[in-house]
Amino acid sequence: MNQKKEVGEKAVEYVKDGMVVGLGTGSTVFFTISKLGELVKQGLSIKGIPTSIQTEQLANQLGIPLVSFTEINQIDIAIDGADEVSADLDLIKGGGGALLREKIIAKAAKTFIVVADSHKLVNKLGSFPLPVEVVPFGVEMTTKYILELGGAPKLRQKNGSPYLTDNGNYILDCHIQPIIHPEELERDLNMIPGIVDNGLFVGMADYIITMNEDKEIDIK
Ligand code: 5RP
Repeated sequence: MNQKKEVGEKAVEYVKDGMVVGLGTGSTVFFTISKLGELVKQGLSIKGIPTSIQTEQLANQLGIPLVSFTEINQIDIAIDGADEVSADLDLIKGGGGALLREKIIAKAAKTFIVVADSHKLVNKLGSFPLPVEVVPFGVEMTTKYILELGGAPKLRQKNGSPYLTDNGNYILDCHIQPIIHPEELERDLNMIPGIVDNGLFVGMADYIITMNEDKEIDIK
């Protein structure tokens, strides 16, 4: 059984005709978007708003009509994956580097649904290094301030160069384990000059679609 496919496809049940849908990024929500593409071909009328260039390309291939924030000011539902989901339903996101657009879209959505296989469920966040999006200018100083906060930042690399987000920024993957007070950490990190945003999504998820030990769909 492919858990990512099961939970990803389950989320389309929340999408209704006429909705503006935030389309997440990653290998789990890929199944949501693919299913939505099938439904659009069968007549479902939705408009998508993508969280990354990768998702924009996928939606275009599947024929899902897209809109941007110049055309809308609210999103009915956003569906996205996560790297970790805590017992309090807080999240670490950004493993795929799209955390900034993902957070903007999740915040603008009336309902934010997370699709996550059971391996993403943890008691406390922090085993997965927290992605932090930073502007390239002064990254050395930004790194120093994160170290002072107790994180161990590592500049994300791709093909031997710093990884660049869709916004032209760097990602620092920060080992901060365990994250006891995610709300405080999210705020403290975002006070550091040079940090654009971080991958903590605290109190944002309305539903988590996952699987239980019996490999049945579990909605939290
Ligand atoms: C991308 C993300 C993804 O939602 C997260 O990395 C989960 O991805 P996957 O479903 O491939 O495990 O935050 O920035």
